[in-house]
Amino acid sequence: MKHTDIKELFVKTADFVNKEVTVCGWVRTWRDSKSVSFIELNDGTCLSNLQLVIEKGAFKESVLKSALVVGAALQVVGTLISSERNVCELTVKNINVLGGCPQDYPLQKKHHTLEFLRTIPHLRPRTRYFEAVLAVRSRLAFAIHKYFQEHGYKYVHTPIITGSDCEGAGEMFRVTTQPWDAKVKDEAAYYADDFFGAKAGLTVSGQLEGEVAAMGLGKIYTFGPTFRAEHSNTTRHAAEFWQIEPEVCFCDLHDIIEIAEDFIKSIIKDVVENCPAELAFFNERIEKGLSEKLNHVLESDFAKITYTEAVKVLKASGKDFKYPVEWGSDLQTEHERYLTEEYFKKPVFVTDYPADIKAFYMKQNSDGKTVAATDLLVPGIGEIIGCSEREADLDKLKAAMLKRNMPLESYTEYLDTRKYGSVPHSGFGLGFERIIMYITGVQNIRDTLLYPRTVGSL
Ligand code: 4AD
Ligand code: MG
Repeated sequence: MKHTDIKELFVKTADFVNKEVTVCGWVRTWRDSKSVSFIELNDGTCLSNLQLVIEKGAFKESVLKSALVVGAALQVVGTLISSERNVCELTVKNINVLGGCPQDYPLQKKHHTLEFLRTIPHLRPRTRYFEAVLAVRSRLAFAIHKYFQEHGYKYVHTPIITGSDCEGAGEMFRVTTQPWDAKVKDEAAYYADDFFGAKAGLTVSGQLEGEVAAMGLGKIYTFGPTFRAEHSNTTRHAAEFWQIEPEVCFCDLHDIIEIAEDFIKSIIKDVVENCPAELAFFNERIEKGLSEKLNHVLESDFAKITYTEAVKVLKASGKDFKYPVEWGSDLQTEHERYLTEEYFKKPVFVTDYPADIKAFYMKQNSDGKTVAATDLLVPGIGEIIGCSEREADLDKLKAAMLKRNMPLESYTEYLDTRKYGSVPHSGFGLGFERIIMYITGVQNIRDTLLYPRTVGSL
């Protein structure tokens, strides 16, 4: 269908004024006066609606009846006129109702609660809120690719179905075509008959395969869906989320922290420059002060603190935390948020965590207790990045795996990367939805995904 995007009309108004144009879209709202009706038409290309001006006398009653309906899909032809209030408007000559919309269309009101919208995920993209979130999501994905491509990284596609649990936390979804068999004698026998002849699951992280690729390509990144069968029913956990995982050879923890900070600032800057209308909307509707927050992030140096120092800060805070703070136990969200929101008031890298609470692949520090790992914490959310230098020494890596009762025979290929030409290397995983929440101010991860998958909800 030949037509002009509504965005074009707003961006290059002068090119279209006093000319005839055809536009398509959905009726967001409409209102009537005696002889004229006004429709707010949106086609998804920009947040702004195009105002249609309709001289009622020039149209058949039946056309008006089906066009002046919230949710109806229209194709209209008219003349664009400039408008002081709305930049431009369309004086309509011809209306073609592409799809009528009965009265039970759920989006009749101007504002709906986010809880209600979650019950109609298939219609949410027709609201301003989701149009804005999905626009930022799209731009941010582009900015991420742009950053890595311009810095010499290769994009690799790691498998979604895998046999190894990267994080070792046992939170994998199982992939099987096996029927239930109560009589089978053990797990190995059961999976021997399965599609892959072995137990398979959905990946929790592309890191291990990413490391394999980096050990030939030097610098790589992955950007794809990852899956976790965590029962954490929080506003920050989804069972299916997207992760960006760069892996860089000849790079230690100090170097990767520099890369992570530069990367985060660069993608935020890109969105600030390219999604001004969306950010203005979020600033007004979701998080007052969002613009200043993002500018502050771009201008400040991220803080750094070791885990051991962070524990001291938390203990000295005088705060009444729900979970006690002890050296050796993991930081809870309340602790993370205190550090980043109240103590540093900006993003902070917490480094050198106790080895026992972190994954097997992290480089063991010489103190014998901690690993060269860091989490990046940001105000309002907590952890958005999990990062580490990797253990490059074959024997130390094996020892860490054995300590965790991991079956070495399932990781022979991974171990080969340390056997054949091992090099210092580091990488991180950024939760895509978490950074979207941070940039937009959206409070619940369910409102950053087209179809959120969370425990108990498919
Ligand atoms: O800290 P995580 O578990 O680290 C890894 O998976 C490493 N293999 C990354 C690497 O070094 N290549 O997860 C990385 C990030 C977290 O910081 C968080 O932002 C996000 O992924 N994340 C989740 N986001 C949404 N829902 C969940 N259930 C998430 N679990 C982790
Ligand atoms: Mg983590």
